[in-house]
Amino acid sequence: MDSHHHHHDQHHSGPGSDDAALAELVDLDAEVLHSYLSDVVEWAGELAGGLPRRILDLGTGTGTGAVALARRFPGADVIAVDVSAPMLDRLQAKVRGLGLDGQIQAVQADLDAEWPATPPVDLVWASNSLHHMKDPDQVLAWVFAALRPGGLLAVAEMDSFPRFLPDHIGPGLEARLQAALAEARADELPHLYSDWGPRLGADGFTVEARRTFDIDLAAPLPALAGRFAQASLTRLRSGLDGRLSPGDLATLGPLLDGDGPGSVLRRGDLTIRTARTAWAARRP
Ligand SMILES: C[S@@+](CC[C@H](N)C(=O)[O-])C[C@H]1O[C@@H](n2cnc3c(N)ncnc32)[C@H](O)[C@@H]1O
Repeated sequence: MDSHHHHHDQHHSGPGSDDAALAELVDLDAEVLHSYLSDVVEWAGELAGGLPRRILDLGTGTGTGAVALARRFPGADVIAVDVSAPMLDRLQAKVRGLGLDGQIQAVQADLDAEWPATPPVDLVWASNSLHHMKDPDQVLAWVFAALRPGGLLAVAEMDSFPRFLPDHIGPGLEARLQAALAEARADELPHLYSDWGPRLGADGFTVEARRTFDIDLAAPLPALAGRFAQASLTRLRSGLDGRLSPGDLATLGPLLDGDGPGSVLRRGDLTIRTARTAWAARRP
């Protein structure tokens, strides 16, 4: 079952440490937002209709979607595709631990360059991955060809990064972080926050549903939320060199300083506020 080829592609997957940090973040995301994840998987599963026999998870990362789908559809084979070997290593350790290694197959492929050979699939899942692709419309054309007629593509994307901090901390800090990020990423990730509905239609799909999932978790939250806040805000800050004011950097410093006295890990007042939007698109 294992066609996870170990040709590391540093050009696309970046330095290993960056992958490790992203892997940690997507696992925390799935754990902390588990109720969103099960809602959106349930939503996609119902729209898929019947029992999919073959499912493809595009840009699977550590396989949080692949695992949720494998559990939702125990009779289905799940093909989990990603460019990053460290991500797929983590996925494989996870699925072995869960006893799902017979059901979930990891496949390494760079979707900027190629589509992995797959038999026709019934359901394609793409969560927070399409916006990473250089040419998402090319990838969508490949998805279209890989789906059986009548098969469903479910795309889920974040509407924004989550906000964690009470408003009185450096008033407006998280809004400024996100604005700086949008500016910094405009070149690097031009498809972030794209409106996927019209694009899916232009690529030949019939968009059958679109749903926004509002996430609003109130304090007090479990300790994992602090780690999620730390990982998420640290990643945000790291992409913003030179774009944040000294004042905002000074506010962020202690919040993200390990488990120091001012650390988000020690705050009892964190919340998680964000939204994700999902589109269900069928190959006619
Ligand atoms: C933000 S993560 C999302 C992971 C997972 N789908 C989730 O929702 O938790 C984006 C993933 O897309 C993968 N990715 C980015 N560019 C890719 C490409 N060209 N081909 C395949 N995978 C890619 C990354 O390696 C990463 O694992």
